[in-house]
Amino acid sequence: GGHTGYFRDVRIGVIGGTGLYSLDGLDVVETLAVETPWGAPSGPITIAESGRGFRIAFLARHGPAHHVLPSEVNYRANIAALKAVGVQAILAFSAVGSLREEIRPGDFVLVDQIIDRTKGVRADSFFTGTGVTAHASFGEPVSAALRALVARHAAAVPALRAGGTSVCMEGPAFSTRAESNLYRSWGADVINMTNIPEAKLAREAEITYAVVCMATDYDAWRESAEPVTVAEVMKTMKVNAGNAKALLLAALPDLERAVYCDETAALVQPEAGSMQYAFQ
Ligand code: ADE
Repeated sequence: GGHTGYFRDVRIGVIGGTGLYSLDGLDVVETLAVETPWGAPSGPITIAESGRGFRIAFLARHGPAHHVLPSEVNYRANIAALKAVGVQAILAFSAVGSLREEIRPGDFVLVDQIIDRTKGVRADSFFTGTGVTAHASFGEPVSAALRALVARHAAAVPALRAGGTSVCMEGPAFSTRAESNLYRSWGADVINMTNIPEAKLAREAEITYAVVCMATDYDAWRESAEPVTVAEVMKTMKVNAGNAKALLLAALPDLERAVYCDETAALVQPEAGSMQYAFQ
């Protein structure tokens, strides 16, 4: 689109999840309504200045007022809009339920694997209907380089685990206890409703992607004496949003260095062999 050339210097994208709707602490310099061939993203893209001369593009996954349900998010438009403003690396944040006793509400997990339990109703490829037969490699669904970069800043938050497996379910209703226990038996650590197709589309768009999963609750498997209340979840989400911003601000100088100053960084190289075109 018309923005592509002008905003080519905006290389870092941040996708905020439930509880993370803005980027306080950074100077907003522009708010863009971007249209894509796949439609409109969840809301405007906010361009912020880091104070070091670099720009960040922020998008709230569920819209600025959380009106968009996980199944209804236009994931293709969200990723395409960030790509259109020049984004090469996305750090996403996502609220999750914990499937492990040791991952407490408030803890963050940099997942390295994702299990797709969505129901096939989400548009999940940029190649659908294009006549281009392409298959993205997805064995490593999250960038190891970006995970490692963020993990270096674990001290900025109370608890950040490097590695873990998320289940992405359709929702919007939460899991049954039997499902929750099934996912535990599969070795999954956290559960959410948005990792797929977001990670998959970022890979197809050749954008480096990692997601910080922020635990808000223990999902349905845990029969505790004190059932989690909505009030508790809301309180945890507020604390999580503050910690998410702290983690982002701590990691940002490193991220800027990698994305703007080091053309050889693994972060800005499309993952080797990630796209294979079967017929051209
Ligand atoms: N997002 C936050 N908590 C969740 C849960 N328990 N299941 C699915 N998505 C979630």
